[in-house]
Amino acid sequence: MRTQVAIIGGGPSGLLLSQLLHRKGIDTVVLERKTRDYVLGRIRAGVLETGMVVLMREAGVSARLDAESFVHDGVIISYADEKFDINFKELTGTSVVVYGQTEVTRDLYDAREAMGGKIVFNTENVQIHAAESDAPYVTYRVAGTEHRIDCDYVAGCDGFHGVSRKTIPSTVRREYEKIYPFGWLGILSETPPVNDELIYVNSDRGFALCSMRNANLSRYYIQCSMSDSPEDWTDEAFWDELKHRLPSAEAEKLITGPSIEKSNAPLRSFVTEPMRWGRLFLCGDAAHIVPPTGAKGLNTAASDIHYLYHGLIQMFETGDSEGIDRYSEKALARVWKAERFSWWMTNLLHRFPDQNAFDLKMQRAEIEFLRSNRQAQAVLAQNYVGLPY
Ligand code: APR
Ligand code: PHB
Repeated sequence: MRTQVAIIGGGPSGLLLSQLLHRKGIDTVVLERKTRDYVLGRIRAGVLETGMVVLMREAGVSARLDAESFVHDGVIISYADEKFDINFKELTGTSVVVYGQTEVTRDLYDAREAMGGKIVFNTENVQIHAAESDAPYVTYRVAGTEHRIDCDYVAGCDGFHGVSRKTIPSTVRREYEKIYPFGWLGILSETPPVNDELIYVNSDRGFALCSMRNANLSRYYIQCSMSDSPEDWTDEAFWDELKHRLPSAEAEKLITGPSIEKSNAPLRSFVTEPMRWGRLFLCGDAAHIVPPTGAKGLNTAASDIHYLYHGLIQMFETGDSEGIDRYSEKALARVWKAERFSWWMTNLLHRFPDQNAFDLKMQRAEIEFLRSNRQAQAVLAQNYVGLPY
């Protein structure tokens, strides 16, 4: 088989790139190690920057998003029994959109299949060969049969645990990582959200987040031990702990119900440089991970895809390699700003086991300054709604 761009990974990054390129007449093949249902079974974050919405529209996949998503003009920060708004619309003229990443991925799968996009599921032993040559190729196995795809370029969209990043020699790769000493336990419940806006909570018992998917589907998170598993928390225990962390007014009006999904996630900051090696380009979680506190995971994958898509189109249409030659530099410039914001939000709102009394005073002072200073709020707002591509 031959294609122009072999895409490893059928998550949002790989599907969005495939859909964008297809609409420009560029042939792609997506190799996904799981099934579509398995991929769609992953519950992920739900806040989209305008840049991601624009890309979905450019990909012709925004009909449901435009019809069903919710525009959010700001968030609420709460600490002790206090809370205050950060009004993105007022501070930046821009808002964000709440629309589950699972729905983004579903819409992309539907669009790929409607356009006859080539997606191979249940691939095993994917390997990237000759990435540094002018004739890279990918091998993989499906149902015991070996296959080879010759291509012009390879997009590594296979997430943190994929093969693409590791294809870049360790002598070339530079990796930067910070692992946080806690996790997030999240539940999905068919209950009305406790508030119209997201609430980010810094409480003396730990972080909490109140989010939602729609008027009767809420998403809540509490900071938990790294060693906690969902089975360690009954629904009742989760709701009780969340109420202890919420401001009293929200704790009183919180509507609880059975969890329809419960999962925990470790928190990590991670970046690999460079994001290109020869004709292999890393995108999304294959290249970088952020703690979910700033809702930057998918939104930073989106800017990677934006840069790579435009660079590949420029190359295929004009032979000018400027876009792909500068891909890593441009993508990383925005990645590191997203890493900083996510790291800062995580430090602002979580309790760390090694925090002493002074550290807690510093954290409180940071929140109080944010509450009292419009410029400080504007900085948070600019980062949350998304820095320019
Ligand atoms: N071969 C083929 N497919 C693979 C391989 C492999 N060796 N390894 C991983 N994959 C697939 C996974 O099954 C997954 O479907 O690659 C896909 C990667 O998708 P994501 O992990 O969702 O990464 P990405 O598409 O970059 O999306 C980033 O997802 O994890 C969240 O917070 C993250 O919101 C961000 C978004
Ligand atoms: C979510 O809705 O799942 C969500 C929202 C904001 C975040 C993280 C997760 O920062």
